Amino acid sequence: MKNILIVDDDEKICWAFEQFLTDEGYNPIIANNAEEGLRQIENNRPDLVMLDIRLPGISGLDALQEIKKIDPQIQIVIMTAYDNVEMTITAMRLQAFDFLPKPIDLDQVKTILNRVSRLKTVRKELTLDWKGQADQTQKYQLIGKSSQMQEVYKMIGIMASNNDTVLIEGENGTGKELVARAIHHNSLRQDDRFVAVNCGAIPDELLESELFGYVPGAFTGASVQGKPGKFELADGGTIFLDEVSNMSVALQVKLQRTLQEGEIERLGGTETIKINTRIIAATNQNLSESAQRGGFREDLYYRLNQVLIKLPLLRDRVDDIPPLVEHFLNQINRELNQTVQGVSHETMKILQNYGWPGNVRELENTVKSAVVLSRSDVILPEHLPTRIQDPVLTDNALQMDLKSILPTIVKRAIELEKDSLYDELINILDAELIPTVIKTCNQNQTQAAKLLGVSRTTLIQKMKKLKYKGS
Ligand SMILES: Nc1ncnc2c1ncn2[C@@H]1O[C@H](COP(=O)(O)OP(=O)(O)OP(=O)(O)O)[C@@H](O)[C@H]1O
Ligand SMILES: [Mg+2]
Repeated sequence: MKNILIVDDDEKICWAFEQFLTDEGYNPIIANNAEEGLRQIENNRPDLVMLDIRLPGISGLDALQEIKKIDPQIQIVIMTAYDNVEMTITAMRLQAFDFLPKPIDLDQVKTILNRVSRLKTVRKELTLDWKGQADQTQKYQLIGKSSQMQEVYKMIGIMASNNDTVLIEGENGTGKELVARAIHHNSLRQDDRFVAVNCGAIPDELLESELFGYVPGAFTGASVQGKPGKFELADGGTIFLDEVSNMSVALQVKLQRTLQEGEIERLGGTETIKINTRIIAATNQNLSESAQRGGFREDLYYRLNQVLIKLPLLRDRVDDIPPLVEHFLNQINRELNQTVQGVSHETMKILQNYGWPGNVRELENTVKSAVVLSRSDVILPEHLPTRIQDPVLTDNALQMDLKSILPTIVKRAIELEKDSLYDELINILDAELIPTVIKTCNQNQTQAAKLLGVSRTTLIQKMKKLKYKGS
């Protein structure tokens, strides 16, 4: 970084900057008003502009927007009095890199200069072709070239060409709804509605009338016209039953009948209504296990599970992380009219090493919040939440060890006809973990409980169970 433009009508400030920046080895360019500043930008393309807000002629805020139009990569630091909160907020919203309160503190200037030159260095590493060129025509675009995702695409293609019921299984944020929409929008039903119902979020009594509708006077509070249910609304289209495992048994029976007969009855009504609605259900639990344990009706499970699409965990397809990040950045650039260039190598490495319990949704939220925090067009590690920057189990060593020993343990458990493998494993972990934590925390149980993220009562119960008194 070499050229730095100072725009200020206060000559003393300009002079002080000129001395300081020259001493530090930069090439300062001075302008006493915004018009002159904009001319200098066209001629000299500075990397950084220190811009006063209160200027004669074109105001600092207007100049800020003009500069961003000329070259969004030029970083702009606005200079203003501390008490000018509103102006500061507006400037930051308009993509200023930072603000520098007056009177100017040169140490603060140094810090800003360091940050901007670091940005310039990492920018060379960036690969994102941000110009908003990602395919905008495809609304429900799925990203990822991993073999697991290829399998998913294949299934979407197959299922889009028929009317079978589909069950999508995947942990939180793996893309269940997106896949359901992709099936619908690639199918012959695409011109009719896709109606999503979150069975986990609606109380049971309401869910029944949501799904099946009601006739006038069906219950107190029912509207006089009655109301069609979502099955009817989605007639000709697709209904997406999200978190289907949360349905009550009574509703499960009713759903089973609907699937079998292809017809519904509104609540309180006697007339049966034929429906032509495709059903896609989703669950973040292992529904076959719930069915075996009796938590979910087996006959309904088999009906829903005509075809199963299982979505992979994000941590099992880390090669998909860079294109996903790029996809989300492009999206943000389009939506917020930003010009984020990309993430540094180091940041990407951290993103690929993290475990992503919240899968793609967590990645999406992380990228979005990092863009907001970065105040610039490059994302660095410090813009990530600390849980991602410094995960405890960094290289997934524990996970790899478990992967290698668990199959043997599970096989053995089957031979011995065990029915409490889960508890036994937790006990083994506790027996090692609890004493280690207590010792490391110097017997401080409050600290140990906090570290483990359990209440002190839980910790004491666990110690009792282990017959461990500390020492
Ligand atoms: N393969 C993918 N490509 C692009 N975006 C994706 C992909 N998978 C998921 N997403 C995005 O991640 C977010 C979460 O996806 P979605 O809502 O479909 O997941 P979900 O499994 O239904 O999550 P939850 O369990 O939280 O309901 C959405 O914004 C979605 O657009
Ligand atoms: Mg969902």
